[in-house]
Amino acid sequence: MLQCWAKQNNYEPIEVRSTEGCWIYTTDGRKIFDLRSAHECINIGFRHPKVLQAMQQQMESVVYVTDDFASPSTAKLAQRLSELAPGSSEKKVYFCQSGAAAVEAAIHGARLHKYNQIVLDKKFIPDAPQQYPYPYKIISRYRSWHGATNAATSASGDPRRWFTEPLTAPGFIFAPDAGGPHSPFGADEVDKNLSYLDYLIEQEGGSNAVVGVLVEPIVGSNGIMLPPTGYLEKLQDLCSKWELLLIVDETMTGMGRTGKMFACEHYGIEPDVIIMGKALGAYCPMAAVIFNSKFANSFDENYFGHGQSYSGHALGAAAALASIDVLFEDHLLEHAESMGKLIEDRLHEMTKKYDFVSHIQGLGLFWTVHIAGESANTPVRRATEKYQENLVATISKYLLDQHNIYTPSDKFGIWIVPPLVVNAEEVDWILNCVDDALDQVD
Ligand SMILES: Cc1ncc(COP(=O)(O)O)c(C=O)c1O
Repeated sequence: MLQCWAKQNNYEPIEVRSTEGCWIYTTDGRKIFDLRSAHECINIGFRHPKVLQAMQQQMESVVYVTDDFASPSTAKLAQRLSELAPGSSEKKVYFCQSGAAAVEAAIHGARLHKYNQIVLDKKFIPDAPQQYPYPYKIISRYRSWHGATNAATSASGDPRRWFTEPLTAPGFIFAPDAGGPHSPFGADEVDKNLSYLDYLIEQEGGSNAVVGVLVEPIVGSNGIMLPPTGYLEKLQDLCSKWELLLIVDETMTGMGRTGKMFACEHYGIEPDVIIMGKALGAYCPMAAVIFNSKFANSFDENYFGHGQSYSGHALGAAAALASIDVLFEDHLLEHAESMGKLIEDRLHEMTKKYDFVSHIQGLGLFWTVHIAGESANTPVRRATEKYQENLVATISKYLLDQHNIYTPSDKFGIWIVPPLVVNAEEVDWILNCVDDALDQVD
């Protein structure tokens, strides 16, 4: 096996006997708390009985058929997501198997939509010269990660993009980050940031060249960063002004992670395209792109020129539908919000106690303790230091070795992202352990 993003001679996976709820049981008798929710995929915890039962029932009838046939689970899942996502439920959903594949479909779909509008439907933007056959540029941001396929990596600012350079896909432009002390316009600055973006869109050819803006509503892998107040709302206005599609990547933040089904709901925006993955299928690789009606209708008479095997996998859809039911029936959104408040209070204490904790950021059960670099305004690991050993790796090793808590070592801070089924007692214990780790570092 090749381990993801790692030197292989360090690869020593821990042998697992079983999993349950928030816990991983190993063959050598350890009981490890998964503080990263298995790559943020198991929001409902490991082996939730209702989801396992739905999967078993689905396997009795249809596991997979192509989209020339209708399977009730897949159809119901499309309907459910269309209703749950903000805005009118007149949407269309495309299914695939990973966040990156969903990002590819969103980018490709958005470009095809613009092609339909401009070339086929002869929708020319007044007073703008037609310099390109059709718009193709996507604007994303430096502190972002959208996946490891070629276009998704090309859209990502994360240093993992460098592995694909110089052969990144063309047509991706980076806008400044927003939120947190490390963003170029400052933590709370919205207007300067967006007036720069307005300038950028114009310089890139405006509506005739740019398709849309792709953002994580709350930045994930690149250090959990919340948008400053008003940013996403004004970003939506800017997209409307230029007739661009607002594409929101909820691969990590969706499925209740932040205390709402979609993180964008905290900001009252209605994206044109929403990307989902990870926790959607819980135990099955299942991802989705939810396109709004404006987009979807443009394919009635035109080709949606995209597709792949296993699109709309019935077993994955059954797991996803049952996971959504669990979120609502077990009140996990409200629970995530209340557990998140406990985390926030304790983390605030730690920022006061330790000089080297620069700040904390998070929402619901999606938190990072940001460690200061050379100053409070520089991150503990600059982009150019992504692959150097640093304090985050030391702390994560200490938590695993001393406290049996598993949290990633390669993020831009200490990752506190437990399954949504975590209870108050476990939260208290986790934070005592994090406090102990910070004390050791101190
Ligand atoms: C916001 C976001 N988008 C896309 C992806 C890619 O998802 P996958 O690893 O399932 O391809 C990730 C993965 O971390 C992500 O965080």
